Formats: sequence, structure tokens, C-alpha cells
Amino acid sequence: MCWGVKAGNSPTESLEADDNLLSKIQQLPLEKKESLELACFFCHCCYRFGGHFPTGNCCQNRKFLSNSTEHQCMQEFMDKKLPGIIARIGDIKSEIKILSIGGGAGEIDLQILSKVQAQYPGVHIINEVVEPSAEQITKYKELVAKTSNLENIKFAWHKETSSEYQNRMMEKKELQRWDFIHMIQMLYYVKDIPATLKFFHSRLATNAKILIIIVSGASSWQKLWEKYGSRLPRNDLCQYVTSSDLTQMLDKLGIKYEYYDLLSTMDISDCFIDGNENGDLLWDFLTETCNFNTTAPPDLKAEIMKDLQKPEFSIKKEGKVLFNNSLSFIVVEA
Ligand SMILES: C[S@@+](CC[C@H](N)C(=O)[O-])C[C@H]1O[C@@H](n2cnc3c(N)ncnc32)[C@H](O)[C@@H]1O
Repeated sequence: MCWGVKAGNSPTESLEADDNLLSKIQQLPLEKKESLELACFFCHCCYRFGGHFPTGNCCQNRKFLSNSTEHQCMQEFMDKKLPGIIARIGDIKSEIKILSIGGGAGEIDLQILSKVQAQYPGVHIINEVVEPSAEQITKYKELVAKTSNLENIKFAWHKETSSEYQNRMMEKKELQRWDFIHMIQMLYYVKDIPATLKFFHSRLATNAKILIIIVSGASSWQKLWEKYGSRLPRNDLCQYVTSSDLTQMLDKLGIKYEYYDLLSTMDISDCFIDGNENGDLLWDFLTETCNFNTTAPPDLKAEIMKDLQKPEFSIKKEGKVLFNNSLSFIVVEA
């Protein structure tokens, strides 16, 4: 697999894709790293460096989504719980303002919008998206263009991180209020989570809510990070954070919330088949390490491999090994 990098919009800052690419990136100063976007020439989709993986590896992400029940789990939540949660967000309002932080390619955002439309038929909706990846924004726009029934929704995209958005708003003193804010699977990439929670909580209108989706403290991610985090290469742009950390932060801030946990699993059976290409991508995803299978110390790999098959980490069903990828849905009130 080969990787290309572009820095900002300037082609003069491009790095050549070659075997030393990752070490070249690692040597860059942090400000430079943060503005990098990696293009994966394997599947032609891009991810912001540090956005989901230290390597920007969107193939791992695709593999993860196709091997896990994450999006089905979110869909179940949207169908069963979201209507009750948003039941009053638009009461006595002529339009409903929604802010999506890290909206990605928009699949989940459009599900949320359809629930808001169902709750408030015909009401005008403003949907603004804060998303640092240009490629994700392009995909989001393409999805909107081919989706029907969005006539009453006005979309706007801001190509920036949540803290860049926050700073821009503070500088402009443009402190508008929102009826629904969501942060779905993105808080791992935010440096100062308590400050972010505090800022967005202060931007809620009457009856408004924030929905946060993050891996559960009861998931196997928590156990994996607790046990092996210190032995895996760390990337300063991505944090090991679960719902347990988040609820502690909210408690400290005195912010009220409700909390739901839903089971989601990831089929990691291929990780145990030698030389399996899907397995290699899943290993990289699980350990957030590029080429883990070929570069990890053998004792570390053997230990993790053994643990991953234990009931604390995975269940075995119909010959498959299913890693516990449970998600937490945290609903913050105004
Ligand atoms: C795992 S994806 C989730 C996308 C979408 N919310 C979903 O659930 O399908 C994380 C998204 O957060 C974006 N992101 C990364 N760092 C961010 C930051 N500091 N602020 C806002 N978004 C960020 C990434 O570009 C990516 O689109």
C-alpha cells in the first residue's frame, strides 16, 4: 500500500510517497503534522492525519466499518432513542439549528436530520458542519447532492477543527446558539476535551441537547488501552478516551447528562490467520500502529493475540471472534 501526503493546498509542500513516508512525517514539527492530509492511493479516499489513525489509514477505517456493527448500532440508537431525545429541541422555534462536529462523510448526520424532519415536518433546518478533512467534506456534499427530501435543510461546511471553530467564534464574538450539537466518534482527536465540552455546552439554546458517541468504558478498547497503551507507539494527535473518562469530565464540570450503552462488535477472526491482508489492516486499527503485524515486537504481538481471544475481550460466535466495540451515547442537556 502506498501513501501520498499533501500539506495544506500547496503542492510545493507535498511529500513524496515512498517507504520512508511515515518516518518523514514523524520528523515534521507538530504544526506541520496537524495541517497534513494523507491520501491513500489504495482506495483513493483520504483522512486527516491523526484524524482517525496515526497513519491516516482510511483503509483500516473502511475495514473496521465493514467488519463491525458500529453503524448498525448507531442506526438502532437513532431509530429507538433519538426521537425521544430531540422531541422538544425545536419547540416554539421558526428554524432548528444543528451543529455537527467532525461530521465525516455525513452518513450518520443525514440519519439524524431525517429524525429531526420527522419530528418537525416542514420546519426549516440549518445544518452546519465543522470538519477538518477536505475529502470528507467533498464526500458529504456528494451524499447530500444525491439524497432526496433535503429541501428544507440549508447546509454549510467549515473546514476546520473544533478548536479552530471555537477560536474563530470567540474572536468574532459571533456566539450563536444551537438546538442540537453532535460529536460522533471524534472526541479522541480533541486536545482539550473539558474546554471543548464547556464551550459547546455554553452554546446550547433552550431545550437544546448535545449528543456524544464514543467507545464505551465497558468495551474492550478500554481494556486494551489500559493494558497495552504504554507499550504501543503513541501519537500526540489521538487520545485513548472512553465514556468513563468523559462522564468524569462532565461530572467535574457540573454538566448534566443521560447515558446509554449499546453493544457493538468487530469481527477480528482474520487477525488470527497468518498472512491475511484484512487481518493486517485490523491489527493496525486495533493497535493504531502502521504495519503492526510486521513491525511489532513478537512478544507483544503474542501477548495481545492471546488476550484478544479471551472472553474479557471477545466473544466467540459461529466460529467468529467478536471484539467488544460497545458504544456509549451521552446526551447532554442545556
Ligand atoms: C471517525 S470519523 C467520524 C465521522 C462521523 N462523525 C461518523 O461517525 O461517521 C472522525 C471525524 O472527525 C474529524 N476530526 C478529526 N479531528 C477533528 C477535530 N479536532 N475537530 C473536528 N473534527 C475532527 C475527522 O476528519 C473525521 O471526519
